Amino acid sequence: HVTEAAAPAAKTPTLPDAQTVTEVRHWTDRLFSFRCTRPASLRFRSGEFVMIGLMGDNGKPLLRAYSIASPSWDEELEFYSIKVQDGPLTSKLQHIKPGDQIILRPKPVGTLVHDALLPGRRIWFFATGTGIAPFASLLRDPQTYSDYEEVIITHTCREVGELQYGKELIESIRQDELLAELIGEGFADKLRYYPTTTREESAKMGRITDLMRKGEVFEDLGVAPLSPETDRAMVCGNLAFNLEIKDMLEEYGLEEGANSKPAHYVVEKAFLD
Ligand code: A2P
Repeated sequence: HVTEAAAPAAKTPTLPDAQTVTEVRHWTDRLFSFRCTRPASLRFRSGEFVMIGLMGDNGKPLLRAYSIASPSWDEELEFYSIKVQDGPLTSKLQHIKPGDQIILRPKPVGTLVHDALLPGRRIWFFATGTGIAPFASLLRDPQTYSDYEEVIITHTCREVGELQYGKELIESIRQDELLAELIGEGFADKLRYYPTTTREESAKMGRITDLMRKGEVFEDLGVAPLSPETDRAMVCGNLAFNLEIKDMLEEYGLEEGANSKPAHYVVEKAFLD
């Protein structure tokens, strides 16, 4: 009779560029954040993004650009994501649990980097929604505080619950002993946080763009309107917001910078799936 060769032992399929999820937090029914292992070879500049995702049903990786929210000195990587119920990636990604694998292409890129800006006195980080993610990295980068005398982060969301990730981030930065050691005691005094909501009552309501036009932001913070002599800006939010604030920054006299040609501000789209 014929002896059939034993079938090769079934192997756990390993994803290309697989990383393991270590923590997942759901902030609202529209937002979650997660942490995963970091490839030993991955070096990145605060503010950059990488392609991450899952294996699609067709056996091809389904990838999207995600800003790295963790600082470059962190052992793990952190991401902050929207959940879109019919989103090709996030309808699935929102269900990940610690121990699951995701795909992460270790090729960081992006425009929201310190290298793209000329030296200045004050830096503004303007975010809407999940656009706060790259700033979560930049706000934990010692260079942000050594390069600037003042660091202002504005975050506009529809509802109060959507501000929670940023709120906890700012609190944890203010109490961070490692940052205090790296940058010097009192670094937290440089950091100003300006959260606003547009569709639910909160301490400060309105789109940041409208509040700037009215001069309310500058009054509240006790700073002069932006000028190319003193101010630098990074922008990350939805498309309409990016376009509107870009026009405003140009009106203040700021010019758009790039890695190859540093100037006064840089812009990047927040991830929407
Ligand atoms: P609004 O509620 O008035 O649309 P989203 O969740 O849709 O990405 O929006 C995030 C936040 O960005 C919301 O508070 C939204 O305000 C605000 N926003 C949307 N478009 C603009 C814009 N052109 N300028 C300023 N803020 C905007």
